[in-house]
Amino acid sequence: MRKSTFFAFTFSLLSALPSLRADEGMWLPSLIEQGRIGDMRAKGFRLTAQDLYSVNQASLKDAIVRFGSGCTGELISDQGLLITNHHCGYGQIQQHSSVEHDYLTDGFAAMNRSEELANPGLVVSFLVEMKDVTDQILRGVKAGTDETERTKIIDKNKKTVVRKATAGNHYKASVEALYYGNQYFLFVYEVFEDVRLVFAPPSSVGKFGGDTDNWMWPRHTGDFSIFRVYAGKDNKPAPYSPDNVPYVPKKSFTISLKGIEEGDFTFVYGFPGRTYQYLHSEAVRYIQEKGDPHKVNLRTIRLGIMNRAMAADPAVRIQYAAKNASVSNAWKKWQGEMKGLERLGTVGKKQAFEKRFEAWAADKPEYAGTTEQLAALYDSLEPYAFARDYHTEAIMAIELLKFAGTFADAENLKPETLARLRKSAAGFFKDYVPAIDRETADTLLAEYARNVPASFRPETIDPAALADAVFGSSLFTDSLQVGQLLASADTAAIRRKIDDDSAVRAYKAFTGTYKTRIEPEYAALNERIDRKYRTYMRGMMEMRRSEHDFYPDANSTLRIAYGKVDGYRPMDAVYYEPVATLEGVMQKDNPDIYDYDVPARLRQIYETKDYGRWAVDGTVPVTFIATNHTTGGNSGSPVLNADGQLIGVNFDRCWEGTMSDLEYDPTVCRNIALDIRYALFLIDKVGGAGYLLDEMKFAE
Ligand code: ARG
Ligand code: ASP
Repeated sequence: MRKSTFFAFTFSLLSALPSLRADEGMWLPSLIEQGRIGDMRAKGFRLTAQDLYSVNQASLKDAIVRFGSGCTGELISDQGLLITNHHCGYGQIQQHSSVEHDYLTDGFAAMNRSEELANPGLVVSFLVEMKDVTDQILRGVKAGTDETERTKIIDKNKKTVVRKATAGNHYKASVEALYYGNQYFLFVYEVFEDVRLVFAPPSSVGKFGGDTDNWMWPRHTGDFSIFRVYAGKDNKPAPYSPDNVPYVPKKSFTISLKGIEEGDFTFVYGFPGRTYQYLHSEAVRYIQEKGDPHKVNLRTIRLGIMNRAMAADPAVRIQYAAKNASVSNAWKKWQGEMKGLERLGTVGKKQAFEKRFEAWAADKPEYAGTTEQLAALYDSLEPYAFARDYHTEAIMAIELLKFAGTFADAENLKPETLARLRKSAAGFFKDYVPAIDRETADTLLAEYARNVPASFRPETIDPAALADAVFGSSLFTDSLQVGQLLASADTAAIRRKIDDDSAVRAYKAFTGTYKTRIEPEYAALNERIDRKYRTYMRGMMEMRRSEHDFYPDANSTLRIAYGKVDGYRPMDAVYYEPVATLEGVMQKDNPDIYDYDVPARLRQIYETKDYGRWAVDGTVPVTFIATNHTTGGNSGSPVLNADGQLIGVNFDRCWEGTMSDLEYDPTVCRNIALDIRYALFLIDKVGGAGYLLDEMKFAE
């Protein structure tokens, strides 16, 4: 009796804090040795900290890349072969697709190296080195240095550190703040820019379940695609050239064919984008009560219009596929996030913690009042944050305005600028349907007028009449007119036409208002908020130094999260098993629904049970879930076993845990991974590209 009361008490106390629970955390690889390695090994990890990260010898980090700007990928052969998600390569796969060569629908397999497809603009970055440079960055900053001066000193020091790190080499470097500027780290990257598409499953596999299954478990998506990194003959980064050769990485992953079981140790090694674990209660309240609901509403409108048009026309379906997926993704996540925050009572817990913080800080002038000051700042910020949300989610969601804006913002009309605009126009019109945009604009503008106070809107614009006026007269709805415009030799005339265009004028009115009445105050307040967080964060760490370990919020830098393969209880009386198989794919099969229409070849293999070496207990494993703490950007990350072998490719999180960027709940937060054996099975049996397996190393 006494014991359980004690436990209940401790538990409620702990959960009143933004404290660290089992498996929460995204750790800096270079610090694993000083911190986490003991816990990792106690939980089953069998390698050393140097196997994970080392600057002196090849380590697992050398097999991992930031893929493009928003995903992770990993090397799976010593000839530059790379695996990431289908949704991470989606833009590229779509770019290569047309109604004649519909790689989205049919999938793509290069049958030899000469068939691999180049992707201008796509880069992958390997981390060469990371290190704590706090002392160098804060050199010259004193206790009394005022904030403006401090920022100046830091910016100058950052430049020096980056310059030194990149002197005499071909690396790129950046200095990133951790813990709200209480610490600084240098990150040095080697960036490759010739990355070619090798294999993509059909969307009916790679995006199986579409946006209906997105953010959900059980999941049956074969969410992977394969690329190859190319280098110059010296194995160094080089711009695309037919003479380039496959890059030989310092390290590539061995693929485990041993399988996984509930309870197995796993870790995810990748580039998580952003988390907000230490946010003030008022910031969370804004997200939950205003930001998320309004943004969800605006996207519901856009998706409704897009979905109808896409269902009616196969060409439009392809044109709007990538746009739709990206609008839908955050739309759905925000809904899960709102629910999760409400269920956990995150705002209330944070308020309770803030009270405790203030009690602790009462006799510490450095910290006292910090959380109250933050609350007041958030109160001032709210109207600006709200107007800003509408600017990005309503106004800038009108494709025409955004496109016209790139012309309006062109600093000059030199031949290279015109060439760039011509290229961007070609890309824009390839996937643009004015009727969709116009209907969207009408509805979004109505919401904008209804919700955004007049003081944050341009006086010169009547939102109710705008769509008609702009779409009826702007030359930017028509590729021919834009082509003619750019073909003219008279740049003064081009400039005049751009400036007179109705879409450009509308764009300028909105961005003018945004830049004068919203953004400056928003930025100024945020600067003050960030400064407060620096103090608050330091205080939190000091206050609870011995209670638990802190980890810095994700900021698109390389991190390790570890945990185990584990099911969960989404609701009363239901337990979700951690492994999904081909049986589930076939249970969902429905030729009448685009997202559930299993490819004929897979159906056939299923009927004959011709799984070959990929059979496990009479079926094929497809996906699994684990307790690894992940976020956006972790897509494509390697999911590894206790021996550092590749067992899966991370691609999502479970619905009940979508609030994990703000509060991680160990009972329901799960990452979703593709079982690597499903990818191999698909390449081999469905895609007919089994030759790719010859490059890979397996542990049986
Ligand atoms: N939810 C995953 C992530 O945040 C996957 C998104 C891609 N899939 C989709 N159906 N839109 O990126
Ligand atoms: N699907 C996400 C990504 O693209 C991963 C996540 O948010 O869990 O990075």
